[in-house]
Amino acid sequence: MCGIIGYVGQRPALPILIDGLRRLEYRGYDSAGVALVDGDKLRVSKSAGRLSVLEQLLDFKATSTTGVGHTRWATHGAPTDANAHPHLDATGRIAVIHNGQIENASALRTYLERQGFVFRSETDTEALAQLISRFYQGNLEQAVRQALHEISGAYAIAVVCADEPGVIVAARNGGPLLIGVGKGEHLLASDAAAILAHTSQVVYLSDGEMARITADHVSLTTLDAMPVTKDVEEIEWSLDEIELSGYDHFMLKEITEQPAALENCLRGRIEPRAGAVHLGGLVDCTRELTRAKRFILTGCGTAWHAALVGEYLFEELIRTPTETEYASEFRYRNPVIDDGTVVIAVSQSGETADTLAALVEAKQRGAAVLGVVNVVGSSIARETDAGIYLHVGPEIGVASTKAFTAQVAVLAMMACYLGRRKHLSPAAASQFITALAQIPKQIADILERADQAKIVAERYCGMENWLYLGRGYNYPVALEGALKLKEISYIHAEGLPAAEMKHGPIALIHEGMPVVVIATAGSQYDRISNNIAQVRARGGSIIAVATEGDREIAKLAEHVLYVPDTIEPLQPLLTVVPLQLIAYHAALLRGCNVDKPRNLAKSVTVE
Ligand code: AGP
Repeated sequence: MCGIIGYVGQRPALPILIDGLRRLEYRGYDSAGVALVDGDKLRVSKSAGRLSVLEQLLDFKATSTTGVGHTRWATHGAPTDANAHPHLDATGRIAVIHNGQIENASALRTYLERQGFVFRSETDTEALAQLISRFYQGNLEQAVRQALHEISGAYAIAVVCADEPGVIVAARNGGPLLIGVGKGEHLLASDAAAILAHTSQVVYLSDGEMARITADHVSLTTLDAMPVTKDVEEIEWSLDEIELSGYDHFMLKEITEQPAALENCLRGRIEPRAGAVHLGGLVDCTRELTRAKRFILTGCGTAWHAALVGEYLFEELIRTPTETEYASEFRYRNPVIDDGTVVIAVSQSGETADTLAALVEAKQRGAAVLGVVNVVGSSIARETDAGIYLHVGPEIGVASTKAFTAQVAVLAMMACYLGRRKHLSPAAASQFITALAQIPKQIADILERADQAKIVAERYCGMENWLYLGRGYNYPVALEGALKLKEISYIHAEGLPAAEMKHGPIALIHEGMPVVVIATAGSQYDRISNNIAQVRARGGSIIAVATEGDREIAKLAEHVLYVPDTIEPLQPLLTVVPLQLIAYHAALLRGCNVDKPRNLAKSVTVE
């Protein structure tokens, strides 16, 4: 979604805003803008297109020490110069930047137009700017508060006014927002990556809170003007972690980081010999979880695919009924939540609007709610009763990679942890955890053969339709492989449970069509081999992901990408890696922007 940045202090604000926007661009990148409070004037520059287009317009000699900046993911109105943020009020003295959606914007617009306000854009945000102006009587904080009482919807906003230099007013209801605490300066941002170069001390705003920020002071209140006190928290990520560190793309960096990232994720949590798992985040609710009658795993996109692997793991190791729900459907379909239901929200960013809302819905219906999240201090982390962090460091590439493998690893640890408190024997747990402990090294082995995936991409990146097939634990991996290819190379791809192919999609298969089949050793091998034969009979080209040492498969496939052998439940942690690499290379070969694919954003904070 959109990225928000603000600075008030002693230093020239513009370079700090632009550096922050550069680090936020993965959130949304179809247009950008800044507003500087310069003496008793506002200087606003904005344009459609990437940040680099805006930079051409800017006078970096500007000395203003107060300003806000925005990078956009369009919701209301196409990505044009006029619809880019900041949006000004009719006087041109109040500027607003906004992440989210104002549900009653058109009613407000009609009302304000009847009052004589003239609108210059198609955005919902401009309605808020005009509304603040309508209430403004020399106190910006008060005017923003009054205006926010008139709007409904999700928002994170920052507002500056030419009549109040040195002041930023911010507010949050549904969109992430944090304040960076510096010496004689304060920053504001949608996420920590944008301000880490200046401070690691932050205050997280919660829903329904506002802040009046100056260089030396921050006053926090609720929307009803009740004072709020908050702790300053430390961001655990280092600046290095959010840099490219010599890689061409964050996606390649994050694919390559998976061995080390998973080591971090597993560190201090597993004891292979004893088959023990230690999850500090669940200690206080272990009893309740062990007695759970039903688990519901929910998320969106890649997180939903990880949750689906989790469903298989939970039912196999814990033997408790488990379902996987698309958060966007779950939140509105009046789900049955009875006693003993535990809902687990899976989310890398911890800010995905549908997943957050599904969680809140489940909580309201009395479910225990847990989070499997990567971003510390994120909304989902703070909304859940308990949870587990991935500990894989920041994920910047829009296409999620290391977060997927870590989400599966965490769900695997949870399944073993609770399974041991039910039916899982110490021996079985030890075998499981011993195999899990070997995964980081095994991924490193796969990465050493990354060029094999590149060859497949070179061979088929010109084909506009691909199929991905998998069975059992590898069915969600087929879905994930297809999603990776779609979202960064813009090739249409469909992931399927292999047996489903015969019930329709097989009609798509034609001579030379690339069909990726996950055919690793295990209980499904014979059946997936039959599916391969059915595809070959119709001329499809087989790209098989297979277990090292399987010579037979090479006779059935045009290309074989080998992965080390592991137990079936953990195969998704290995079989997904070649698929991540195929997508990466296909996107590169097709000249796509791997880290900032079109129409996408890293964290989807609107529904
Ligand atoms: C995955 O590559 C995509 N970026 C997207 O599907 C993502 O997984 C989804 O938006 C969920 O994000 P979250 O894990 O931050 O909640």
